[in-house]
Amino acid sequence: MTQVGIIGAGPAGLMLSHLLHGQGIASVVLERRSRDYVERRVRAGVLEQGSTDLLAASGVGQRMQREGLAHDGIKLRFAGEEHRIDFRRLTGRGITVYGQQEVVKDLITQRLADGGEIWFETEVTAIEGIDNNPRIAYRRNGDEATLSCEFVAGCDGSHGVAHAGMDAKSYERSYPFSWLGILAKTPPASNELIYAYHERGFALHSMRSPEISRLYVQVDADDTMDAWPEARIWDELRLRLAEPRLQPGEIIEDGITPMRSMVMEPMQCGRLFLAGDAAHIVPATGAKGMNLALADVKVLAEALTAWYRSASRDLLDHYSDRWHG
Ligand code: FAD
Ligand code: DHB
Repeated sequence: MTQVGIIGAGPAGLMLSHLLHGQGIASVVLERRSRDYVERRVRAGVLEQGSTDLLAASGVGQRMQREGLAHDGIKLRFAGEEHRIDFRRLTGRGITVYGQQEVVKDLITQRLADGGEIWFETEVTAIEGIDNNPRIAYRRNGDEATLSCEFVAGCDGSHGVAHAGMDAKSYERSYPFSWLGILAKTPPASNELIYAYHERGFALHSMRSPEISRLYVQVDADDTMDAWPEARIWDELRLRLAEPRLQPGEIIEDGITPMRSMVMEPMQCGRLFLAGDAAHIVPATGAKGMNLALADVKVLAEALTAWYRSASRDLLDHYSDRWHG
């Protein structure tokens, strides 16, 4: 038995567990993958100011502040012509390049140091009784069991189980292209991100550190890595980014990500609340996904805190509206 059962140890689930702990609310995080797997999964890399503020204010921002790369703007390139968007001047805010798996590592370290419960290699198979008596059915080491809780947070990403049984409508759109992303041992060719338009397709220059670049090229939706030998990736990147300083380097990670949008409406049902990719997906173009996941759980943690402090259901009832509104 726990107060909040959280499905998924991505940024949403881990941050929710951490924020609830800060308010004295107990939770258990159930994650189907191993700790090693979630700490190595290369994904997002751009934290918006709201995310860095949340990490810092909740006490898990020290390494990000030390090792993250603070940027004041981005560069847009059209046919080689550059337009810099100065976020700092226009909004007074900036972005920080810090890998999602680093955020995940920092949150796991903190949760475990605080005595938090994260059950790795535990696959949730169903959620029962979401109207008044929730139970999370799971499988671990071949054994099946259930965890009773007062609330369930479905933070299990776009392929999770939490949204499957909900009485909600999902609005979806798939785009006819994907992004092929690589992590390469080559110094970033520019000190800022470059979003490049090119008639052969989009390309993006990002980074993870002064030695490691993160680069993306738009590919056809049905392309596989077989169609993209290393030489072709570098040729396309050089051409589309129009960036002579870009040097090929050892590719240490690669993968193809489809571009799609999805939103569940509403994001809640009874005592089940969705957060992050389980509730909505945005294409990677805007670098928003992890930031939205963190923003969701900030709102959800406030609503659960109000419930446990004063038995007020008002914020919980309006959780979904606060996002869609
Ligand atoms: P996830 O990180 O997907 O976590 C869900 C967790 O639930 C996973 O660990 C999964 O193993 C677990 N799980 C699933 N099913 C079950 C089950 N049945 N039982 C138990 N556990 C389960 N976003 C940005 O903000 N900026 C970017 O720059 C950016 N770039 C991206 C680049 C790429 C290549 C990709 C793929 C995504 C990118 N995103 C970006 C999106 C971002 O990675 C996601 O939005 C983010 O991971 C959402 O976090 P989450 O916690 O909601 O879900
Ligand atoms: C990165 C990913 C994105 O989707 C994006 O828009 C910008 C940067 C990255 O992985 O660094």
